[in-house]
Amino acid sequence: MSATAEPTITAKPHLPDAQTVTSVKHWTDRLFSFRVSRPKTLRFRSGEFVMIGLMGDTGKPLLRAYSIASPAWDEELEFYSIKVPDGPLTSKLQHIKVGDEIILRPKPVGTLVHDALLPGKRLWLLSTGTGFAPFASLLREPETYEKYDQVIMMHTCREVAELAYGQALVESLSDDPLIGELVGDKLRYYPTTTREPFHHMGRVTDNLQSGKVFADLGLPKMNPEEDRAMVCGSLAFNVDVKAILEGFGLHEGANSDPKQFVVEKAFVGDGI
Ligand code: FAD
Ligand code: A2P
Repeated sequence: MSATAEPTITAKPHLPDAQTVTSVKHWTDRLFSFRVSRPKTLRFRSGEFVMIGLMGDTGKPLLRAYSIASPAWDEELEFYSIKVPDGPLTSKLQHIKVGDEIILRPKPVGTLVHDALLPGKRLWLLSTGTGFAPFASLLREPETYEKYDQVIMMHTCREVAELAYGQALVESLSDDPLIGELVGDKLRYYPTTTREPFHHMGRVTDNLQSGKVFADLGLPKMNPEEDRAMVCGSLAFNVDVKAILEGFGLHEGANSDPKQFVVEKAFVGDGI
């Protein structure tokens, strides 16, 4: 640029770390998913989370942790979100439309990653509510099916409608040109409700402890030699599942110390 050239004038000021919304889908009055452009330099491992948000009224970014629900190979990023009526971020975020911008800090982290587990035969993905989000990423990740003979996706919500995002995602896998063949018949999907009639009911914890899920799927009881698990739900859920997995003889691992299961909170709260 020569010394006399006019500076470029942009039509509207851009947010820091701005990404553009490319689609939005509302699943219930409490749940929605959306996709945004992906920063060209962003690398992440399927299952990790990032900080996303909007500019707050004070002019400071209002950021929250969000699991990336899309796999590492996807050109865009997908998120699956709660709508908290008075939530500082989601009371606004729920109104985003295609073409809007959100803030996305490109620093992915998290423990729900393949590297944090020792090799095994079966991978159990155990979730409630929006805790499904990191597994929406891992269910579309080729490594998930390359590393395990069987993948069992347990997802529990109060009502049937709250299972819809997970249901649609699982149904889309067989037609996916990239991983459809890899998934084959390896994936066993076990959705349940607790407060509305459904073909399978009950908390993840109860179905593990009673052995019902093993009987229903014709699988042996979980054991530390063959089974690996990833857990994502409320703190209370995570604490209860952890105790059950430890009762089966599995030990909690981490990125730096891979073992038989890993845990991450789906949100902070619960009063615990
Ligand atoms: P906040 O002030 O953050 O929360 C208000 C209250 O709402 C909380 O105290 C809690 O009781 C409840 N709450 C918050 N989030 C949830 C939720 N997801 N499900 C049920 N109740 C909730 N949220 C998502 O929707 N999708 C994600 O993929 C996701 N990933 C996360 C990953 C991590 C590691 C963590 C720690 C949190 C994650 N969250 C996720 C929660 C998210 O960070 C925010 O809390 C949520 O977006 C609500 O923001 P808010 O500002 O509207 O309300
Ligand atoms: P329940 O209906 O029996 O409480 P929430 O909407 O409260 O976040 O719960 C989402 C789902 O997780 C519900 O089906 C709920 O079952 C279940 N759940 C809540 N807490 C636990 C827990 N500590 N262990 C297992 N499941 C739980």
